[in-house]
Formats: sequence, C-alpha cells, structure tokens
Amino acid sequence: MRGENVAPWQPSSPAAGISRAAFLRRLCGAAVLAGWPAAGKGAATSQALSIGDAMTNSPTMITRPIPATGEAMPVIGLGTWQTFDVGDDSAARQRLRQVLQLLLDAGGRMIDSSPMYGRAEAVTGDLLATMGARPKTFLATKVWTTGRERGIEQMRRSAELLRTDVIDLMQIHNLVDWRTQLPTLRQMKADGRIRYIGITHYTAGALADLARLLESEPGIDFVQLGYSIASRDAESRLLPLADARRVAVIVNQPFEEGALFRRVKGRALPDWAAEIGCTSWAQFFLKYILGHEAVTCVIPATSDPAHMADNLAAGIGALPDERQRQRMRQAWDAA
Ligand SMILES: NC(=O)c1ccc[n+]([C@@H]2O[C@H](COP(=O)([O-])OP(=O)(O)OC[C@H]3O[C@@H](n4cnc5c(N)ncnc54)[C@H](OP(=O)(O)O)[C@@H]3O)[C@@H](O)[C@H]2O)c1
Repeated sequence: MRGENVAPWQPSSPAAGISRAAFLRRLCGAAVLAGWPAAGKGAATSQALSIGDAMTNSPTMITRPIPATGEAMPVIGLGTWQTFDVGDDSAARQRLRQVLQLLLDAGGRMIDSSPMYGRAEAVTGDLLATMGARPKTFLATKVWTTGRERGIEQMRRSAELLRTDVIDLMQIHNLVDWRTQLPTLRQMKADGRIRYIGITHYTAGALADLARLLESEPGIDFVQLGYSIASRDAESRLLPLADARRVAVIVNQPFEEGALFRRVKGRALPDWAAEIGCTSWAQFFLKYILGHEAVTCVIPATSDPAHMADNLAAGIGALPDERQRQRMRQAWDAA
C-alpha cells in the first residue's frame, strides 16, 4: 500500500470551527465565484451575508457525537457522486478545491465517496493532498464488489487513491455481498486500517434490509440511507432503530439529486422559515433532516462553491423542533 511506512493518520481535534469573519469571507468569495455578480458584485456580497446571517447566534457548525466513540461529527458533510468525477479537468478541479476549502473552513469534515463514483476518489485524494488537508477530514468510502479478495483489493486501491493509510469509515455499498465483506471489515478495523464500519443504501425498499442488519450484526458503527423532506420512510422504523442501537446515521440524497429544487422553483420560502434561520430552500431541506435527532450528518453533493456555502449555513444556528418540522412537512406536501 502506498505510504505504508508512514505513521498512520491521526484524527485532528474534531469540529475545529472558524471565525465568523473568515467564513463570511469564504462565503462572499463563493458567491462571486458562482456567478452571483450577474446582479452586480454588491448583490453577491449581500446574498453571501444573508447566508452568513444564519450564523449570528452560533458561528461554529453543530456537531453530533458518533455513538460508538463519542467523536464529534460536524452535521454538514459532502457527497462526491458525479460532482467529483471530473478527471483531469483543471477548471473543474479548481472549483472543487474551493468547495472543499469552504467545507473545511466551516469546520466540516465528512467526505463520502465510493469506487463506484468513477474518478471521484482520485480527485478527492489529489485535491486533499495539494491542500495538505487530509488531517482535517473524515474520509468515508465504500466497498462495492463481490468476493473477499476483490473486496480487499478494491479497498487497498481506495486508500491509495485517497492517499491515506487509514480510512475513517468503510461502508458496504448498497449491501453488495455483505456476508463476505463484513468479516473483512471487522478484521481491517481490528488491524487499524479503518476506524469505523458502515452499511449503505439509498432506496426506501432497502430500509428493511438495513434494519435487519442493524438488528442481527454486531459492530456496525454507521448506517447511510436516503432520507429527505419528500421521502420520509426512514422516520417510521430505521431512524428510531439506529438511535436505539446507538448507530450513527449519514443521510444521502438530501435533495433527491436536485429534484427537490425543481418542485419549489419560483416559490418563495414561507416567512416562518426565518425562525429557524433558513434563507434558502437548500437550508430548509437540510435543516428538516437535521431536526431529527437520530441523524448524525448529511452529505449533500455539489460542485458549486456558492451551493456549498449555502449548504454549510444549514449546519449553523437553530434547528427545527418537532412542531416546526411538522409545519415544514405540511409546507412541502402542499408545494
Ligand atoms: N448507496 C449509497 O451509498 C449512496 C446513494 C446515493 C448517494 N450517496 C451519497 O450521497 C451523496 C448525496 O447524494 P446525491 O449526490 O445523489 O444527491 P443530492 O445531494 O441530493 O443532490 C445533489 C444535487 O443537488 C444540487 N445542489 C446541491 N446543493 C445545492 C444548493 N444549495 N442549491 C441548489 N442545488 C444544489 C447539486 O448541483 P450543483 O453541483 O450544481 O450544486 C446536485 O445536482 C452522493 O454524492 C453520495 O456521496 C450514497
């Protein structure tokens, strides 16, 4: 394995926050980069400041403990499906570097990838190496193949591409050949090659399978699942189960690959969304998810620095309580 003689990576102190001023500078930069100055540079700045206003009362990102260890996990992370599969395109890489910088400056750590995502692992590894940022991150990837030897080789390759000796979280992607891969993951954790074990899926139809594994297999630290204001099946069984079993929850597809934005296109946010610090629909959708206490973090994907800044603002300030979440559901269902 690459760098095998290098001392294993040590996690940095979790959830290091940044000053409000530094983050606002990034937000302003992101706004400009994203083309908000279409309405003039002043418009870009005021948009960025309105995102920053969500941070007025609490300038650092909210964290939740990973139940298995108590390690603090910042609630907003980053997915890499499609968005990081950019190969050698230097302009695209430059934008992704800005996305990563915003995540890190806001105290975010979780980056989720998979060998299924084309060049995403390689691009992530290259960018983090150039930025010297690996120690600030929590790298999650997946094993997505059948057979013990193929699984081991795929995970070795992921570590190589991500340029790390230790992968923070190794997940069984869509439960592919989990009976074979789970014992390997347990061994890798015992050997110190991975820090946590997880299982993933994204469809409502797979929630029952995820639940069965959480109930029957010891040592699963994380479950990653699809959950959004539009697809709430996880609320009935899996989220309470994960909570009871002390399993961390990562929420994928929080925007249903962007479909949620199409449904609210042209609609104004409800006035009362300001009560929970929402200045955009993205924050509304993310804060709805984070309002569920079983959720440890959410991993929206973006290749757009302004969208990253927008998403990060959802992890700062107030979160909706159950009464407010009910109101959010009603507003969504009526949209
Ligand atoms: N089985 C599994 O393990 C599994 C399955 C699915 C997903 N995942 C993980 O979950 C991550 C997230 O899911 P996803 O990528 O499918 O979809 P998603 O995060 O629900 O949506 C991504 C889409 O939303 C857009 N977007 C992001 N922020 C926005 C904002 N603030 N305003 C407007 N548009 C915004 C992005 O476009 P822009 O680039 O233009 O911002 C992109 O088109 C994946 O990347 C992957 O890491 C795992």
